[in-house]
Amino acid sequence: MPIISCKQSHNWEHRNTMINIIQWFKYKGWFIFDLPYFIRAQQYHYGLELGAKAGRSMYYMLKENKDLHLTGIDLWEIIDGSAYRNNNQNENRCKQKLSKFGKRAKLLKGDALLLAENIPNETFDFIYYDLNCLPMKHAHQNMLSKWIPKIKKGGALIGRDFREFREDIYALGYAESEIKRCIIKNRISERLEYIEIH
Ligand SMILES: C[S@@+](CC[C@H](N)C(=O)[O-])C[C@H]1O[C@@H](n2cnc3c(N)ncnc32)[C@H](O)[C@@H]1O
Repeated sequence: MPIISCKQSHNWEHRNTMINIIQWFKYKGWFIFDLPYFIRAQQYHYGLELGAKAGRSMYYMLKENKDLHLTGIDLWEIIDGSAYRNNNQNENRCKQKLSKFGKRAKLLKGDALLLAENIPNETFDFIYYDLNCLPMKHAHQNMLSKWIPKIKKGGALIGRDFREFREDIYALGYAESEIKRCIIKNRISERLEYIEIH
């Protein structure tokens, strides 16, 4: 058995702590490190985010993709969950945050289930699906069935929480092998997954 000195063991612990911190940042920072660069690599020009909230992920997608036109949809109502106590203020926050992008950012307020009725099929290169919250529990299958047809053939449905409602995705006829991890410059995203639309 190799003998490890106290100093070596301390260095090892330090190294592991650093690795854990980096992993944590990569997991939490999907909207900075992963999503904008995945979009860029695919050369998408027209996208939709379902669940715009205060515009955080829309901001980074638009900032890093100068030719991207992005629509954002949200209820902007107070809903169950501590993260949504002030959700009625997020419409203004979102507008302010995205104002510098001018016509490249478009915002629609309302229930995404109803708004889907007014959107023609095959409109978007991608949809970033970020509606995972308590009121949406058990509602993803229905919501996804309305929105997937709005994605062009060859485009993608992207999400950060697909693991939490896998059954809804399987129920739409997708197999596990069709749900792929996003890869950004040879790095596999800790969190983002996508489904190619055929
Ligand atoms: C997880 S948050 C989105 C986080 C955001 N993408 C970000 O990066 O900060 C989920 C959002 O979905 C919205 N939402 C939930 N159900 C909705 C529905 N039926 N129609 C439209 N928006 C909805 C909520 O209002 C909430 O702002």
